[in-house]
Order: sequence, then C-alpha cells, then structure tokens
Amino acid sequence: MTTRRRFVQQLGALASASAVGALAPTFARAQSAKLRVGLMLPYTGTYAALGTAITQGFNIALEENGGKLGGRDVEFFTVDDESEPAKATDNANRLVQRDKVDVLIGTVHSGVVMAMVKIARDTGTLLVIPNAGANAATRSQCAPNIFRTSFTNWQPAHPMGKVMYERGHRKVVTLTWKYGAGEESVESFKEAFTKQGGAIVKEMYLPFPNVEFQPFITEIASLRPDAVFVFFAGGGAVKFTKDYAAAGLKDKIPLYGSGFLTDGTLEAQGASAQGLLTTLHYGDGIENAKNKQFRYAYGKKYGVQADVYAVQGYDACLLLAGGLAAVKGSFGDKKALYGALEKVKIDSPRGVWTMSKAHNPIQDIYLRRVEGNANQVIGIAWKALDDPANGCKMQA
Ligand code: PHB
Repeated sequence: MTTRRRFVQQLGALASASAVGALAPTFARAQSAKLRVGLMLPYTGTYAALGTAITQGFNIALEENGGKLGGRDVEFFTVDDESEPAKATDNANRLVQRDKVDVLIGTVHSGVVMAMVKIARDTGTLLVIPNAGANAATRSQCAPNIFRTSFTNWQPAHPMGKVMYERGHRKVVTLTWKYGAGEESVESFKEAFTKQGGAIVKEMYLPFPNVEFQPFITEIASLRPDAVFVFFAGGGAVKFTKDYAAAGLKDKIPLYGSGFLTDGTLEAQGASAQGLLTTLHYGDGIENAKNKQFRYAYGKKYGVQADVYAVQGYDACLLLAGGLAAVKGSFGDKKALYGALEKVKIDSPRGVWTMSKAHNPIQDIYLRRVEGNANQVIGIAWKALDDPANGCKMQA
C-alpha cells in the first residue's frame, strides 16, 4: 500500500469517526430534548372550568409518570382559546409555527377544534383532542396524526334515545346551542329516539354561548311534551338547570341530556340537578381501583372533585405516555409513533378503553343519576360503543 493510499484511508477513517462523533451527540440530544407540548384550551368563558379540569387531569398523569413522556422532560406552551372559533386558526398557528410544539393538545369546543384539525392535517403535527366531540375529526377529517381521548358528539347522546323511549316518553322537545356539538348531539339523540318510534315535537336552538333561556322554557311549558332533551355544558348548563327548576318544570316535564349537563357543575347546580338522568362515558362512582385512586389524587391536589373533563385530560397524558414509551420518546419514525399510539390500552378512571381505527375511544356509555354532588352510575346504557366513523379514510 502506498503512503498516499494509507493516508487517504486514514483520513476516511478519521472522517467517519468524526462524523459518528458529531452525529452521536445530536442524536442523543434530539431524544433527550424537552418535549414541547402545546395546550390550547379555554381558560375563560362558559367552558373555562372544562379547560382547567383537562389541564389538571393531564398534570396528575404526568406526575404519576415522573414528569416525563417517553423519557423526556416536558415543556408546556399554553393558549387560552376562549372557545372562540374566529381566533382558533391564529391560536393554533402560534403554537405550531412560533412555539414549534411537538404535540398539540386541545380543545373543548367543536368549532375551535375543527381549525386545529385543519392545521394538524396541513402541517402533520400530532394532535390529541381531550374533549371536543366534532364528529368530523374522526370521520371525514380523520388522519394518522389525529387522536381523540374523549368522544364523538354522536356517542353519549345516542343511547339516550333508547333510554327515554324505554322510560315511556314518546313526544320530546330538544333544546341546545346552535353549533357543532349541540347540533350533532341532538341529531344523534333524534336518530336513536325516532328509530324506536318516538317523535320530536320541536327542535329549539339559541346561539352559543347565550343563556337567555326564558323564552324557550316558556314555550316548552306551553307545548307540554313528555320530556326534554338538551345539550348544555359548563356555565351554561348551570344556568339552564336552575332556570328550568325555577320555572317549576323540573317535576312536571322530565329533563334529560348527555351527561355534560351535570358534569363538573353539581355544586353550583344544587337542588336544580337532583335526580336528573344523563348518559355519558364516565360517572363519579364508577367502581374500579383506577377511578378511586384518580379521584383521591385529584381531590388531594386540587381540592375539587374530578369530573369527565379531568378524566379526558388524564387519558390524553396516558395515551402520550404509553405511545412515546414504545418509541423511546422519538418523533423520528412517524409511522412507528402513530402505530404505538393506536395500540395503547388506556387504563382510565372510566374503565379500560382502546382506540378505534378512526382514533376515537371505543367505550361504555353509562346511565347516571344525580345524587347529592355525584353522578352515580345506575347502569350501562350501551356497552363498548364505537362511533360509526362514516367517511374516515385513514391515509398511511
Ligand atoms: C364540544 O363543543 O364539542 C363540547 C363542549 C363541551 C362539552 C362537550 C362537547 O361538554
């Protein structure tokens, strides 16, 4: 071997050694850099308590996981979305473009989440939805990088059609806010109720987040239906049950709803919510070890009772913890990451659930009755209910 050849060989060896040397720390750094988590939730407005509960639930699970996800420390970037669809695109862009988050978590409001879904689809950012039920997010707009730990608007309302019919109601008035969640909840209830043979006397709507319920309550009193089905949540739900009871209708025309009507709201609703029956994928008194442990930890840390929103936030963190552990915190192989997220079995306070092919929970829907300050489970309204996921074509 000539000297020159040996020299070139040595150079090559040196070069590749230094390449490895240069690469190794970068690779290690990428894995151990803080995971950038963007929280886009309402912290003001009628859904403020819901955003807070989701954040707190997420934090409980993160603490249980030693403050890390996939072995990485977590850095939060937070935006108050105010449940305001007009600001949603700017808010989500701020987290994705400016803060360069690895994962976007949000939100509560169905209209706001659709802007987040669009940005997630356009940029490929991982999105975890811890509440908003907009059907399209896991139907026509489903995507490999979009996951939901809550429900579709169709899911909790559907079993109520059967429950109300079986309780002898035949003519029902519906009332809700005129926006995605309200409309899709009523549509789902109506589909199930009319299939049984029931009839909708009148569908009533008011703009979100208005709480001028009086004219509607007066009209319900004059229409005298067998029962009323509503979708309301948060501050609006509190005002509604109080107004309904104050008008003297609570014991005359039975009121039902998807369980958001009485979740996280019972202390404020007081007597106006006692005895109400609702359907939801959670109940305060669910008898499993995980629920007991979660409710205890949540009450101890935050001094308030856990609710469905806290559970959905907790589960969003469990999903990320499980998925990221499987890929050792790396976002390098997206297919591996999404595959891992799809396979996580969530040991939730609501009961163990799995992800559907469309990335939405397959879960039991409970029938609950308000007793004191708790939504007590009195039965399972629908076992392992999966959303129909119409129009979801998952592109690999
Ligand atoms: C929604 O807008 O999707 C929504 C909001 C609050 C709830 C449930 C659904 O409690």
